[in-house]
Amino acid sequence: MPEKENVTIAPAEGKLGVLIAGMGAVTTTFIAGVEAIKRNLAKPIGSVTQMATIRLGKRTDGRSPRIKDFVPLASLEDLVFGAWDIYPDNCYEAAEKAGVLEKSLLEQVREPLSALRPMTAVFDHEYVRRIDGPNKKPEASKMEHAEMLMDDIRGFRESTGAARLAMIWCGSTEVFHRPAAVHQTLADFESGLQKDDPEISPSQIYAYAALKMGVPYANGAPHLTTDTPALQQLARERQVPICGKDFKTGQTFMKTLIAPGLKSRMLGLHGWFSTNILGNRDGEVLDDPGSFKSKEETKMEALQQILQADLYPDLYKDFYHKVRINYYPPRGDAKEGWDNIDIFGWLGYPMQIKIDFLCRDSILAAPLVLDLVLFSDLAQRAGMRGIQEWLSFYFKAPMHAPELYPEHDIFIQLMKLKNTLRWMRGEDLITHLGLEYYD
Ligand SMILES: NC(=O)c1ccc[n+]([C@@H]2O[C@H](COP(=O)([O-])OP(=O)(O)OC[C@H]3O[C@@H](n4cnc5c(N)ncnc54)[C@H](O)[C@@H]3O)[C@@H](O)[C@H]2O)c1
Repeated sequence: MPEKENVTIAPAEGKLGVLIAGMGAVTTTFIAGVEAIKRNLAKPIGSVTQMATIRLGKRTDGRSPRIKDFVPLASLEDLVFGAWDIYPDNCYEAAEKAGVLEKSLLEQVREPLSALRPMTAVFDHEYVRRIDGPNKKPEASKMEHAEMLMDDIRGFRESTGAARLAMIWCGSTEVFHRPAAVHQTLADFESGLQKDDPEISPSQIYAYAALKMGVPYANGAPHLTTDTPALQQLARERQVPICGKDFKTGQTFMKTLIAPGLKSRMLGLHGWFSTNILGNRDGEVLDDPGSFKSKEETKMEALQQILQADLYPDLYKDFYHKVRINYYPPRGDAKEGWDNIDIFGWLGYPMQIKIDFLCRDSILAAPLVLDLVLFSDLAQRAGMRGIQEWLSFYFKAPMHAPELYPEHDIFIQLMKLKNTLRWMRGEDLITHLGLEYYD
């Protein structure tokens, strides 16, 4: 894409409808958080769209606006929410059950949260085995389910008066599947919907409904969804942005901070052992080997890609990598992630790094949901379609063009994100060369 070309971005006028599949810990923490921030009860910590600045021009220019003042994003006041879940609890009740936020905070946003009731879900027990609930659509073919979801989207748009929409998956992690024949072309996929092909998962039915309606779709979980040729074709045909997969929050966030650092100094790696204890519903779902397999795949990939063993066999050939997630109810959402990293330095001398990250899963994920819906909407108003690689920053297993390897290094991802914003506004891209200051 040529530098200095100005992209036309439609203004962010009217309300932005945020449609969320799954109203569990992450979703309720996100929505309650937005409502609390709107009331000045808290600040949007962790959100790049709300807090980060972007340097423009030379370092001597002194221009560093906030991102939200630099590109036209929907404001928090203009967000309206809709969600689907298999449990009928309203958003306040679901937030209480998720147990992430304190009751005193929830009480202050009780009114908007209680008013948000989940729409009936498209659910398949074969894809999420550990849970089930009553708030589901009646039995029908997968195509009929897609049409029901499209009706939900239309109804939501009408009842809220939303000018634009964005959808994000914050539902449970589905069982691991590889792309199948039915995912190869849009025609195959649509015939598979008619024929109830077992390889089509509920999340793909939501994504299909969104894309058909021209609604951007982001995938916060590790399963495939739009990471298939058929749905990517639909996204391109309908001029809709898509992105995924799997929010990069706790342990993988740490990995993508540390691994680029080790590689930058040419320090070697013998092994990386990661284990987690987690007691929320997500942890319960991930206790199922099928769902864990989806997570394991996205968690393993980042280190391999960052360390590039093919380029650095002396440092990274055959390092041992193990990832464990243990469901441990007493911890609830307050996850603990341990890493033991066996590294080696000059002359091959061994050293160790230990990390004990006492994190809060949904507290880390909620600002990512906010950024992703705002940026997906921006991308659509800027006429961008298909895979949004510049949003890799947010994902454990970033979607990418088939001929490319994914970029996992968080510092490169951030540069890519900010340069994309500069490109959108016709500003010079920043290479960090800096020779001009010493002429
Ligand atoms: N919190 C994090 O840090 C983090 C990081 C990466 C990925 N994720 C992923 O985000 C997702 C949400 O996490 P969470 O902690 O909120 O989980 P959660 O279990 O609290 O919430 C998920 C909700 O999705 C609902 N659901 C399941 N299948 C559905 C369907 N077909 N339609 C509608 N609703 C459905 C469940 O009933 C549940 O309420 C999970 O897939 C998780 O793996 C979370």
